Amino acid sequence: MIRHDVVEPILLEVDQIYHLACPASPVHYKFNPVKTIKTNVVGTLNMLGLAKRVGARFLLTSTSEVYGDPLQHPQVETYWGNVNPIGVRSCYDEGKRTAETLTMDYHRGANLEVRIARIFNTYGPRMCIDDGRVVSNFVAQALRKEPLTVYGDGKQTRSFQYVSDLVSSPSHQRAHIAGHKSRFTCAHARTFPCWWLRRMLFPSIIQAPTAARLSLIDRLVHRPCS
Ligand SMILES: NC(=O)c1ccc[n+]([C@@H]2O[C@H](COP(=O)([O-])OP(=O)(O)OC[C@H]3O[C@@H](n4cnc5c(N)ncnc54)[C@H](O)[C@@H]3O)[C@@H](O)[C@H]2O)c1
Repeated sequence: MIRHDVVEPILLEVDQIYHLACPASPVHYKFNPVKTIKTNVVGTLNMLGLAKRVGARFLLTSTSEVYGDPLQHPQVETYWGNVNPIGVRSCYDEGKRTAETLTMDYHRGANLEVRIARIFNTYGPRMCIDDGRVVSNFVAQALRKEPLTVYGDGKQTRSFQYVSDLVSSPSHQRAHIAGHKSRFTCAHARTFPCWWLRRMLFPSIIQAPTAARLSLIDRLVHRPCS
């Protein structure tokens, strides 16, 4: 294993590049927004340059956040989004949009074989407890026996996908298939408002004894979304 910051160039002999490097949680990507955008732009440029040099197939893990605050639901791949270029999330949203642009420009200009997977909220075992997104927030608060916090009016929606569904999704499988021409794949699961997610996952959370709460949590973290 090599530990390397993708913002710095690297020379390797490889057949395939899976470019996942980037903090994914808002808490983490807002912590150092300049580093986040450098990772998305300079890091992606370095990985694409490497792919071109060695003739490797390239997969970019993009995000549903490229749609910003979407005006269309659900989002289809032909929708171009509604993104704020100067907000606190822009380092991630605009960084990933630029990463997608670079990926397609290398495809068109250098005939690089590329894939872009726009991933939605993924949950499952080994999530970081301080990830800051709604599923891990609910689980962490339930484990601490705290009230579950729903931000705002709870009507904001999120799409969720179980981690193994993502790993076995067509975007990743196709990355293995030589000569496959599909370039865009949306890894899209089910969409829920946050208040509904809380009710669905923890129906009697306020009164439930600890054991009942834990079994609900157990069901949550092990149940595939499909
Ligand atoms: N988890 C999700 O729900 C989700 C949703 C949409 C998109 N994605 C994308 O999928 C990819 C992986 O997400 P994750 O949930 O595993 O994130 P994660 O934060 O758990 O892991 C990201 C990894 O990237 C590494 N990294 C960050 N900056 C780097 C740099 N400059 N150089 C080298 N490595 C660097 C981190 O050390 C970490 O190991 C990311 O590109 C993310 O944007 C994830």
